[in-house]
Amino acid sequence: MIIPIPTESFVRRVLLRLEGILNKIFGNDLNPLYYLGALGFYFFWVVVVSGAYIYAFYKTGIELSYPSVEYLTHEQWYLGGVMRSLHRYASDALVVVMVLHLLREFILGRYRGARWFAWVTGVLLLWMIFAAGINGYWMVWDKLAQYSVVATMEWFDWLPIFSEPMSQSFISREVLNDRFFSLISFAHVTIPLFILFFLWIHIMRISKPVVNPRRRLALGMLLTLLILALVKPVLSQGSADMGIEPVNIDIDWFYLFIHPLLDVWSAGEVWALVIGLSVLLSVLPWLPTRHKQIPKRKQIPVAEVHLKDCSGCRLCVADCPYEAVVMRPRSDGMHFLEEAVVVPDRCVSCGICTGACPSSNAFRSEAGYVSGIEMPSLPISGLRTAMMNDMAKLEGDVRIMVFGCDNAANIQKLRSENVAVLSLPCIAMLPPSFIEYALHEHHVEGVLVTGCRQNDCYHRLGVLWTERRLTAQREPRLRIRAERDRIRQYWAASADLKELESELESFRSGLQRGLGG
Ligand code: HEM
Ligand code: SF4
Ligand code: SF4
Repeated sequence: MIIPIPTESFVRRVLLRLEGILNKIFGNDLNPLYYLGALGFYFFWVVVVSGAYIYAFYKTGIELSYPSVEYLTHEQWYLGGVMRSLHRYASDALVVVMVLHLLREFILGRYRGARWFAWVTGVLLLWMIFAAGINGYWMVWDKLAQYSVVATMEWFDWLPIFSEPMSQSFISREVLNDRFFSLISFAHVTIPLFILFFLWIHIMRISKPVVNPRRRLALGMLLTLLILALVKPVLSQGSADMGIEPVNIDIDWFYLFIHPLLDVWSAGEVWALVIGLSVLLSVLPWLPTRHKQIPKRKQIPVAEVHLKDCSGCRLCVADCPYEAVVMRPRSDGMHFLEEAVVVPDRCVSCGICTGACPSSNAFRSEAGYVSGIEMPSLPISGLRTAMMNDMAKLEGDVRIMVFGCDNAANIQKLRSENVAVLSLPCIAMLPPSFIEYALHEHHVEGVLVTGCRQNDCYHRLGVLWTERRLTAQREPRLRIRAERDRIRQYWAASADLKELESELESFRSGLQRGLGG
């Protein structure tokens, strides 16, 4: 089975266009599609805080639950009612951002290779969040809860695990007792604790995960939820009565869509769908794909440390976005304390560590010099030779070297008699010294650095690290002597090639003016 996601697939182009429009409206810093995971965390916290308030007033028991929720909704509408609505709407928003996050990671191909870990733990989170949400509806013990409980029990009855049908025994008053309510209310506290634990596991292999959206985005979301809570407060749908089958129920389609499905399909078919979908989602990272950007795991060898050139400075550890480099005590007798070690299972072959390593310095004199940490298929000396050969062919008064990234706008299309290009697995694989080297002794008049859009780096931190290195805020820094007016940064996704071409033209004109042309 081949997953049909060519790099420039229609869906991918639509997504990038949509994100481009949102960037124009909100700016890259507030684009909600760049913060779906962080918004997931945020809505989870809103659910926890509002839930804690509701829980303080909630009474556990068959005769107590419904009136206690009614009290909050009506008598204390200004706080308890608002908290109840926030709890509901934030839970719905959590499902929305979670599903969008899943789709986005899939469409952009960010789920394979070493990223399988975040993907598979994400699939587990998906079902845990649905379980917590459905369970939450039962707490109210209104007609919707009754409908949901019976539909769920009937669905579970299909599984050959209970000696007598749960839906039958549930309807009887002996089982439907206060102990049952204690159980569901216990589950409604315990499942979110598991969710929190799995959220921690979900991001544990990612370095510096973005778990908080920007403050203005968070405030905007909270304000939206509050307005919704005031304009359309959440209400119960009449007390449950096991003697009367509920009719004309309004269901929450974000969580309870599974119940109407059971009206159309048999319980067995719905189980087959749920289990089948879960298995398919879980094995997705290992299914073959036509996505050109996703390297076949074994084709691109992972980073390799060359101890002779490693001083144990830890810069590669600080810059690796996947926690794939660790330090250990020196093993070769050199006078340094530590040495870098690559954890192969975590490495996605982005090359960012090579860009961070001080020994990648382009001014080193040896022809076949090596870096402390190298991509075996893209050795640093080979990159310098490729850059030099390409620049040597340039003609004209204004010659430009463009450094770019394989995951962003295709810079090969910019190549011309006065433009040389070097595309890397991630722009942060570029040691800043390469820029100084290109500008040195008039190899070229200008250098254009490009890569994925800001806040949307395919390798998460590559754009940020490059910006900081070029503005001398992060090691390895672009040295002061490099003339900043001969260097231009422009961030462009594959859909932004035209904009990048215009930027190149404006840069060229500026350089020309500077030369007095
Ligand atoms: C409530 C549920 C979820 C929350 C709060 C959440 C949150 C996050 C966060 C904060 C990150 C780190 C983003 C970054 O800094 O680059 C992340 C990464 C990721 N998530 Fe989720 N996630 C959730 C569910 C899911 C689901 C359901 C899937 C897919 C099945 C998924 C797949 C991924 C993948 C593949 C990454 C790694 C991306 C990368 O390496 O660039 N997540 N998630
Ligand atoms: S190539 Fe380097 S920076 Fe990238 S994941 Fe591997 S070890 Fe980390
Ligand atoms: S950046 Fe280079 S020198 Fe520093 S620890 Fe990593 S491999 Fe060693």
